[in-house]
Amino acid sequence: MLDGKTKVYGVIGDPIEHTLSPFIHNKIMEKLKENKTYVPYHVERNQLGDAIKGAWSLKIDGLNVTVPHKETVRQHLIGMDDFASQVGAVNTLKYTKEGYYGYNTDVYGLGRSLEVNDIELKGSNVLLIGAGGAARAAAVLCASKGVKKLMIMNRTLSKAEELACMVKTYYEVDVEIYPLSVKPLAKRIDVAIQTTSIGMHPYEDQMVITEDLCAKIQVAVDIIYNPKETLFLKVAKKKGAKVVNGLEMLFYQGIKAFEIWAEEELPRDLQKNLLEELKEYLERRL
Ligand code: ATR
Repeated sequence: MLDGKTKVYGVIGDPIEHTLSPFIHNKIMEKLKENKTYVPYHVERNQLGDAIKGAWSLKIDGLNVTVPHKETVRQHLIGMDDFASQVGAVNTLKYTKEGYYGYNTDVYGLGRSLEVNDIELKGSNVLLIGAGGAARAAAVLCASKGVKKLMIMNRTLSKAEELACMVKTYYEVDVEIYPLSVKPLAKRIDVAIQTTSIGMHPYEDQMVITEDLCAKIQVAVDIIYNPKETLFLKVAKKKGAKVVNGLEMLFYQGIKAFEIWAEEELPRDLQKNLLEELKEYLERRL
């Protein structure tokens, strides 16, 4: 029941109809029996500033930010955490009396999803496929965890180069860049992280790298969760790799956002139950 004391949270994006965040957050609120609610808001590009000002006036306690606002929202904030400024994107806002403060919980979400799957980045040879927004978060995670080598492979080499420069500005890390046509020199790829939208509808029958390169991969991670197994994951699995899709990354970025708003950690057993519920919900919905 909503009443005069209900605290409101939400997610802003364009489009917004397909977001899974309301499911995740309303479930947490329900399980914790808290007087909070979480709603999707459709905010167009040219109304972002007004929307942020309005939300702040309404004292909306927390917001998630999704495409296409993750980068542009930064100019409307009073500050942001280190990951957000390194990645250049914000996906979580927390209300303060001075304005909203921004966080990037995508880096954390990917990190946690690797951790729960026993995947170690420290000291690993990592292949990063793609150099867009999602790749930036993955690159920051890899560098902050102390990978041995980060190999960035992208269709447009100049973008891979830009990403390499960004990472090296903040971290001491060995970075190599490759166009799609050149196979990385490393004998073994401990972890490969696929960050492009290739593999998702309408590109279900495509993958960015060659089958041949897949054979070198020990652990294949795709940030896509629909379909559950992209062609990249299918091929890597066939060649003997362990595979992880993007559902846990999505889930744990949401968990972290909630923890930032609540200023406390969510019990692990609650997280586990909720992840199972999210998986069931997706099975029904997709
Ligand atoms: P996001 O923010 O979701 O990561 P993005 O910033 O548009 O999206 O990045 C998309 C990534 O997918 C880029 O690495 C892009 O490669 P380019 O930098 O060469 O554009 C990659 N990508 C998109 N379509 C592709 C395709 N058909 N083949 C290979 N890579 C593709």
